[in-house]
Amino acid sequence: MSTKEKLDTKRIPQHVAVIMDGNGRWAALRGKDRLEGHSQGAKAARTVVEAAAEIGVKYITLYAFSMENWNRPKDEVAGLMALLMRSIASQFEDLIKNNIRLRIIGDTSMLPDEVFSHVNDAVLKSQKNTGLTVVIALSYGSRSEILNATKQLLRKYEEQPFDIDSITEEDFSNYLYTKDIPDPELLVRTSGELRISNFLLWQISYSELYFTDVLWPDFGKEDFFEAVYQYQQRERRFGKTSQQIASLK
Ligand code: IPE
Ligand code: IPE
Ligand code: MG
Repeated sequence: MSTKEKLDTKRIPQHVAVIMDGNGRWAALRGKDRLEGHSQGAKAARTVVEAAAEIGVKYITLYAFSMENWNRPKDEVAGLMALLMRSIASQFEDLIKNNIRLRIIGDTSMLPDEVFSHVNDAVLKSQKNTGLTVVIALSYGSRSEILNATKQLLRKYEEQPFDIDSITEEDFSNYLYTKDIPDPELLVRTSGELRISNFLLWQISYSELYFTDVLWPDFGKEDFFEAVYQYQQRERRFGKTSQQIASLK
């Protein structure tokens, strides 16, 4: 039986976030260039988006390029940007056909103009789609996102002072890049690294974390379903006791 059939269809996470890690090691193991790893990684991303759509996930966030990744060698950064544009171009038709909405989170002002306009064009053209939302975290850093939200709030206060004590967590969330996107119930990281790497720090405060040693280019549909299956075995208590949770069922 495939893991997909084992899934409880009533408990599919609405939002899954993924730290797609291990492309470089995948390539090194095969004596290939790191960019070959990224290119295989892009294929894995496509497969996982399909898997998410198949089981009715509503949002999938893919960490494609972090703020810190700007510090990689110039050639690798340029190769990643070119790959991103190629992937969007080659998958755009399918994206529209499959009713997928594309969204970008991150500091897009740091992207080269050509990359930004390419990506933004796909975002605008898919805006009215109503199926799965694919959120690409690009030039994304969580601390900078939180700091940016704080600055926006302070600017608003400067323009027109308001009651500071009235600010709620929900208000604050509305200043984040992820405005209108529910928090992920599940965060997956591949390649065996056990860290968050500045990803969605605010949003994952109560997410279930799933780590696997599989390198991202090898991560397939079965791996994705397995992550969701493992998520479904967890008891999400949100600070309550097990008995309280059981009495709610
Ligand atoms: C993830 O793979 C992709 C990006 C960060 C862009 P890596 O490139 O980090 O692969 P490893 O960690 O070196 O194996
Ligand atoms: C995190 O992976 C960023 C992405 C997957 C895009 P990294 O490979 O850059 O993370 P660190 O540097 O190992 O923490
Ligand atoms: Mg890495």
